[in-house]
Amino acid sequence: ERLEYEADAAEKSGYDHYMLKEIHEQPRALRQTISGRIDPDAGSVDVEVDLPPEYIASIEEIQIVACGTSNYAGRYAAELLESTVDVRTTVEVASEYEFDGGRDPWRTLVVAVTQSGETADTLSAIRRAKRAGARTLAVTNTLGSTIVRETDDSVFIRAGPEIGVAATKTFASQVATLTLLAVHIGRERGTLPYGRAQELLDSVRQLPNAVQSVLDAEDRVREVAREYVDSDAFFFIGRQLGYPVSLEGALKLKEISYDHAEGFAAGELKHGPLALVTEETPVLALLTDGSRPKETLNNVKEVQARGAPVIGARTDAGDGSSAGAGPGGADASSYVDVDLPVPAIGDLEPLVANVYWQLFAYHVANEKGRPIDRPRNLAKSVTVE
Ligand code: AGP
Repeated sequence: ERLEYEADAAEKSGYDHYMLKEIHEQPRALRQTISGRIDPDAGSVDVEVDLPPEYIASIEEIQIVACGTSNYAGRYAAELLESTVDVRTTVEVASEYEFDGGRDPWRTLVVAVTQSGETADTLSAIRRAKRAGARTLAVTNTLGSTIVRETDDSVFIRAGPEIGVAATKTFASQVATLTLLAVHIGRERGTLPYGRAQELLDSVRQLPNAVQSVLDAEDRVREVAREYVDSDAFFFIGRQLGYPVSLEGALKLKEISYDHAEGFAAGELKHGPLALVTEETPVLALLTDGSRPKETLNNVKEVQARGAPVIGARTDAGDGSSAGAGPGGADASSYVDVDLPVPAIGDLEPLVANVYWQLFAYHVANEKGRPIDRPRNLAKSVTVE
């Protein structure tokens, strides 16, 4: 299937910034990512990748290498891959990577996740893996990029061109693509039961509409951003699939607003970072399905007791608000100052909640008058090691 992007696709089309345009393009980008790749009846996926079934059966380990936002997409996927494919899956920051495979390195599949396909650290990690004899696979947005030429196989995320330095729609499309890849490999290996494959594929198919419902709540997020714009720092907490999203939320905010923001595994708060929490440090908490909301609620109570305002993204209880008895606990609403509903779509709920964090980062930065599409000291594609 050939996908065409109109000549004006890279223009701002009425938005103040490319970043905002790209945030709003996510439902469309996700539809392109998914288009024609799912066979719902068979519970199978075709991501146009040439991994022979014998090879898939022989995989002993998966190593994901990537930088920045792409690394967080990799972490999200690794959580899913370990359960669907049933092999050890590691994720490394590409600049830290050293190949460490088993006796037959070819049985280690090294996956490079890179929007641009030109990130020097990621290319260098892939070259290391190849020299050691591993099989390599690129997950990228860019046809004809260096990573595509240098890896054994590639899968395209089909998000369309992204101009803003802050990656937004490509993160969503990376996670969606990697979820499809996880289902593909899991089904081929026979490690992923039909029912569970259906659940994951349903979650992927519901993504575009779920993301749209968050985008429709932008006015509310803008108000929240205005209320907290002058805070000392911002902390993002989450567990499991919510942890990489917390790291991503913090990265987005620091990149474009220049504020101090950190993402923590919620359970780690009490092991140190809690000392930083005050009335002047809002905590953005992920309380959706797929992120152990009940345990995270305990951490929310800890920060609330220290006076920190809590902005919570929670699974919608089905009554249009997130204040019901859905994941997060029936009483969660009394511990959050801002309650943001996320449609109940299963494993990919944290990815949907991430759109709140993107909008929050954008509006905080916009209130401060930051040059959102071209933040200081950063480049869209980092081509030096
Ligand atoms: C994301 O907002 C950043 N600009 C940055 O972390 C980026 O994701 C990273 O440099 C990796 O880029 P790539 O996906 O093109 O390899």
